Amino acid sequence: MKKEEKSVAVRPNFHITGEQGWINDPNGLVVFQGRYHAFFQYYPHDVHWGPMHWGHVVSDDLVHWERLPIALYPGGKGEENGCFSGSAIVWQDKLYLLYTGFTENGGGEEIRQLQCLASSDDGIHFVKHGVVIGEEDLPEGYCPWDFRDPKIWRKEDTFYCVVAAKAREGRGRIILFKSQDLFKWEFVGDLLGTDSPGIMIECPDYCDEKELLFYCEQFQPNEGNLHLNVHTNRFCLGKLEYESGKMQVEKSGIIDYGFDFYAPQSFAGADVMIGWLNMWDRNVPAEKYGFAGMLTVPRRFSVRDGELHQTPVISGEQVVKTQVSGGLQDNATSGVLRIEATGLKNLTLRLRKKGDEYTQLSLQEGQWVFDRSKSGEEIVGAEKDADSLAGIRRMPKSTEEKTLLTVVMDTFSVEIFEGGKALSATVYPDLDADGIELSVEADDCVYVREEIK
Ligand code: FRU
Repeated sequence: MKKEEKSVAVRPNFHITGEQGWINDPNGLVVFQGRYHAFFQYYPHDVHWGPMHWGHVVSDDLVHWERLPIALYPGGKGEENGCFSGSAIVWQDKLYLLYTGFTENGGGEEIRQLQCLASSDDGIHFVKHGVVIGEEDLPEGYCPWDFRDPKIWRKEDTFYCVVAAKAREGRGRIILFKSQDLFKWEFVGDLLGTDSPGIMIECPDYCDEKELLFYCEQFQPNEGNLHLNVHTNRFCLGKLEYESGKMQVEKSGIIDYGFDFYAPQSFAGADVMIGWLNMWDRNVPAEKYGFAGMLTVPRRFSVRDGELHQTPVISGEQVVKTQVSGGLQDNATSGVLRIEATGLKNLTLRLRKKGDEYTQLSLQEGQWVFDRSKSGEEIVGAEKDADSLAGIRRMPKSTEEKTLLTVVMDTFSVEIFEGGKALSATVYPDLDADGIELSVEADDCVYVREEIK
């Protein structure tokens, strides 16, 4: 090979990956010593899930991320076979990680998933403190082999965490623990008090200030056109009653309408969340490039008019700004598109177009229809409903007079935001498929493209 032909790794331009190997859930999102830290479930030695480590990246602006050394390696007592998902908190100038230690033992009911603590003075090197929420702290009615993903916060003078647990005689639950010192924890209650429609809940996250709960469900049945992914995501609005550990749900909905969004977590110290931009039980065509899995771009979230509202935290250098009358053609494989339209009646946007292949978003009868059936390499999942088999996902359109559609595209992904709602999906087109085609029927429309440098 000639020197100048040295191969350059094919990776997303601005999405977090593990560089090499497999990643899943974001973990331990926290602002520490003025910087944003993101950890993630990581198996560096293969493009498939394996004994979980915690990968680590850091950022000043939530757009550009710098890689730090692996923060947690599996192998300590109570975490022989993996350091599963968890969260972070800053307390008395130290960074603490509360996460699930996984020990396989003989498999099945001999598996143990117990909550472990680690701490750091510099946010880079961690000291492990072992299991802090053990089997003896878990009430009889829950399975210690399906007990994971603690999300920690502090309210007044007490630490709390929500953890997913399977009921022995039932399905997924979310339970609340409290502690005065981070080391000794006490069970408080069962948030929802009923079984999840899914077999197991994963990655619960409660945001006290917004009275907002996020979680994921495994093998959740469809609800009409919602929850088409076999493993889905949900938000609930409602007040957590700290004495009883019960939460009165006032409203529930889906966080992301796309194919590939799971295990979102909010930052301790910022109204921003990140999800895993992928899904269990699907092929991942990126494997051939030596990596599998990435995280979504960070999203600012709030509750507006009783609804979850999300906008991507990303901006780049504006390279195109033009009025659109009828249609437009452009070229890019990654970047941010902002389409602002007044009196929008019709819109079709094709991305990553090359020959007969493209990824399409169109407006049909008041909803956004995303179609990846012609996007490139096929992605096959466990879903059997008509939309999934046709490569389709739908998201309601806002009814505002002015539409602001934001499309974040990268080498292997498209994330769509409009009216506070989000739809995320992976796509695997040819690497040089860069055609953009927009056709619009509106009173007024402006198209902006930004490059992320
Ligand atoms: C969610 C999950 C978590 C678990 C982790 C293991 O995607 O299954 O419940 O902690 O991934 O990697």
